Amino acid sequence: MLYHRIEELRVEVQKWKKEGLTVGLVPTMGALHNGHMSLIKKAKETCDKVVVSDFVNPIQFGPSEDFDKYPRTLEADVELCDKEGVDIVFAPSADEMYGEGQRLSNDTLTYVCPPFFYVNTLCGKSRTGHFDGVCTVVLKLFNIVQPNYAFFGQKDAQQVIIIKKMVKDLNVPINIVQCPIVREESGLALSSRNKYLTEEGKKDALVLSRILNNIKTCYEKGITDVLALKETAYSFLTDKHDLEYLEIVDRNTLEAKMIADDESIALIACRVEGVRLIDNIYLKED
Ligand code: PAJ
Repeated sequence: MLYHRIEELRVEVQKWKKEGLTVGLVPTMGALHNGHMSLIKKAKETCDKVVVSDFVNPIQFGPSEDFDKYPRTLEADVELCDKEGVDIVFAPSADEMYGEGQRLSNDTLTYVCPPFFYVNTLCGKSRTGHFDGVCTVVLKLFNIVQPNYAFFGQKDAQQVIIIKKMVKDLNVPINIVQCPIVREESGLALSSRNKYLTEEGKKDALVLSRILNNIKTCYEKGITDVLALKETAYSFLTDKHDLEYLEIVDRNTLEAKMIADDESIALIACRVEGVRLIDNIYLKED
């Protein structure tokens, strides 16, 4: 069930397709936790066959980001997938994905560039080129696996919005399924990067969900002015928190808002112990 080669995977998936089976893809960078597993469970419910990709994609990391130290736990990931009834774990090398010895740059490789308005905001502001790298690898995975459905988490809200936009703009014949954020009981959104935090850091990291929940409560009480809503965050922040952004935007288009409404999403990025954490909340649940 573990495949490293594109061709081997294709042969298997083509067999399924000939039998008329539906195929679901869950793209991941591995270090699987219950957030990833919720996507896998949804894929199992929706599709006859499920492929999980496990690939730490070098082209979506900036030069000063954590590509080298990003947790890699393939053996444990395969075991978890096996338990969940995943049919294939696809774990290619960078050479397999991008060509042997290929220089990973848009001087020499075709990249997918999402629209400026979607990337020049939120995470895209500090992570130049990040979403080009994400869209490029995701479209490659879509072309390699050719699934009927692909599953993404709301945890990375900007990412799933950009992928939906790419699929629409480029007529990609795949249904994108968005799955809710999985949290620890404490409220902390699960993330592979939580592994970098100490126990104390994990407590400090609760500030992200607290700020977002408080904004939602204030909205429910009738405060709609975005500046006023954002200001409520400051009483939660201490010198342990390095806030990168807190924004309230349209949850489908990422357009900035002055007045929040039921289509708004609040998003936050904040560093705790040097670890960059993100979280978000719909001001009105679906
Ligand atoms: P990764 O961070 O491994 O996340 C894989 C998928 O799991 C993403 O769709 C993400 O939103 C989802 N996910 C992560 N934490 C979650 C949580 N707490 N609750 C629900 N879903 C959660 O996102 C990526 O990898 C990469 O950018 C990728 C799309 C694989 C392209 O390389």
